[in-house]
Amino acid sequence: MTNLQVLKHPLIQCKLTRMRDVETDNATFRRMLDELTALMAYEITRSYPLCERETRTPLETMNGQVLAEPIVLIPILRAGTGMLSGVLDLVPTAKVGHIGLYRDPATLEPVEYYCKLPPELPEAHVILVDPMLATGGSAIAATDIIKREGGTRIQFLCLVAAPEGVKAYSDAHPDVPIYTAALDRELNEKGYILPGLGDAGDRIFGT
Ligand code: PRP
Ligand code: URA
Repeated sequence: MTNLQVLKHPLIQCKLTRMRDVETDNATFRRMLDELTALMAYEITRSYPLCERETRTPLETMNGQVLAEPIVLIPILRAGTGMLSGVLDLVPTAKVGHIGLYRDPATLEPVEYYCKLPPELPEAHVILVDPMLATGGSAIAATDIIKREGGTRIQFLCLVAAPEGVKAYSDAHPDVPIYTAALDRELNEKGYILPGLGDAGDRIFGT
């Protein structure tokens, strides 16, 4: 699991604990998700290259620094959209693509229903977001789609990962780093992560 990084910042861990709590209501769950995603985005963008841009301060002209390359943020619908605003608060210039996948409850296989990606994809840093990496099927399928459309530099950001999903994803996409707030114990017979936080989409949207 060399391409897995667990982000252990204390603020990330506290917020994740509130999200796991069954007593946490939908509004608080969404707020924690926003804040936690922003903290994770801060961590995973550390190595992005900068370039100089001439900037006039009120006193003189100097060379300021700006991001050198475009960023494309791609949530896996539906639960991934809960991670959009946390990243966009920090990187408001990011372009946003959408990949619609749902997990068939009987087979646990991902079913694609939507895909719209920005033209900057091939030259961009791509951040794929989904709160849950369970069997890995959805993240693997989304990454297949991104690569098919020309994406190369991809980071996958999730909140909770299962060992089964990490293994499957790493086998399928060894070139893509996985960042998570927690590596949990296992999947149950219905493909839910234990201890996990339940159904992320249902807890975000109150369904
Ligand atoms: C959840 C979650 C992931 C997927 C993870 O989505 O948001 O996309 O399950 O499971 P996997 O790793 O086994 O593929 P779900 O299919 O429930 O759809 P939703 O986001 O619309 O709720
Ligand atoms: N999808 C979720 O939302 N939660 C899980 O535990 C597994 C898949």
